[in-house]
Amino acid sequence: MKNLMEKIVSLAKRRGFIYPGSEIYGGLKGTWDYGPLGNELKYNIKQEWWETMVKDREDVVGISASILMNPKVWEASGHTQSFTDPLIECKTCHQRFKADQKDLIKAHGKEHKCEWTKPKKFNLLVEAKLGVVEGEKETAYLRGEIAQGVYVNFKNVLNSSRLKIPFGIAQIGKAFRNEITPGNFTFRSIEFEQMDLQYYVKPDERESMKQYDFWKKLRMKWYQDLGMKKINLRFRKHGENELAHYAKVAWDIEYKTPFGWEELEGIHHRGDWDLSRHEKYSGQNMAYFDDETKKKFIPWVLETSGGVDRTILFFLIDAYHEEKDRIILKLHPKLAPYKVAVFPLLSNKPKLVKKAREVYDLLKKEFSCIWDDRGNIGKRYYAQDEVGTPYCITIDFDSLKKNDVTVRDRDTMKQQRIKIDKLVEYLDKKLNE
Ligand code: GAP
Repeated sequence: MKNLMEKIVSLAKRRGFIYPGSEIYGGLKGTWDYGPLGNELKYNIKQEWWETMVKDREDVVGISASILMNPKVWEASGHTQSFTDPLIECKTCHQRFKADQKDLIKAHGKEHKCEWTKPKKFNLLVEAKLGVVEGEKETAYLRGEIAQGVYVNFKNVLNSSRLKIPFGIAQIGKAFRNEITPGNFTFRSIEFEQMDLQYYVKPDERESMKQYDFWKKLRMKWYQDLGMKKINLRFRKHGENELAHYAKVAWDIEYKTPFGWEELEGIHHRGDWDLSRHEKYSGQNMAYFDDETKKKFIPWVLETSGGVDRTILFFLIDAYHEEKDRIILKLHPKLAPYKVAVFPLLSNKPKLVKKAREVYDLLKKEFSCIWDDRGNIGKRYYAQDEVGTPYCITIDFDSLKKNDVTVRDRDTMKQQRIKIDKLVEYLDKKLNE
């Protein structure tokens, strides 16, 4: 579809999903604000992730660590040294690019006749100055990945729970990167959110790879179960020279965006890199004692690390449909910001409005619900299709006599009359089909 990204960006702003960050001041590159509907969608995505990765499992717990950490964490993790992108700069116009963004560089070079500098390493950590006395402020970093908050708490979690290896620690939270070229809407931002699992296993090559494959498959299934089209998803293995400094093995789950196949989530075998580095730099013992074998070892870490913002963007792209006279976001009901919309057929008929309010109050207790009595019914359907509301309920004159409503399905546009006392049960079943 032509200009799909422009359509998504425009819909996102128009309908309150995503706005440019601090827009009234001209914005701040690489930052985005989520509006009322975007916030609901984000919440639903995080909720679904948490259900699958934590609530449904006996072997995973969740934590919430600080964004700001002792700067030594980032030395130990290798980020101050190795968390870099190769940067090249045009000597005339001083435009900067990641050296591997060949298409962008070519396009820019054609227009500006650039002379490029040699690639130099550019560190992505965002610095923060802490303290109140000028000249004595301490440099800290906004976390470049949320994983480190989990590693430094490995022993705390172990000692305050009854977990035994293998077990996992999950976390959802903000991360920050000084990206050289933020862009493609929220795809590459400076501030973004990650949803990660760090799964600790015995240091055993074969066993750890079996576990690794399990998580790889489960993560792919999660996107597909929530409706992302199989044809738009694939795995890609990282080559030796592309592996992050901490990774032994890495596969990405990629999504086919209008701007090419792009990373959605990284699944990394991090070996003992993180825990042994933290042991070395902090001087604290990070070993795990195995009750059965009576042996001590530094566990290996398997990581699934997804971007909340990329997941939202790719679900929006995947769900966007145009028909002759309507736009539909075919979001999975579990993700849709509103599950149900309630309309009185006419807004100037007090009896209809009263009955519709009763239905709205009934449904509001059970589902995320929206009331609309503006314009005509056609316009209201259009507005709800565009934001992905699976069901629209209309209260008409027959409703007053028969105590029923029409339920209209977003995707098929079919309408069915359902008795009000059966409505919650009906919708519950439909939304969870
Ligand atoms: N702890 C491992 C880690 O951070 P990563 O592959 O660098 O691995 C994980 O990042 C995920 O975070 C990516 O797959 C992507 O979804 C998201 N992500 C990374 N950088 C991002 C950025 N600048 N903007 C938005 N999302 C980003």
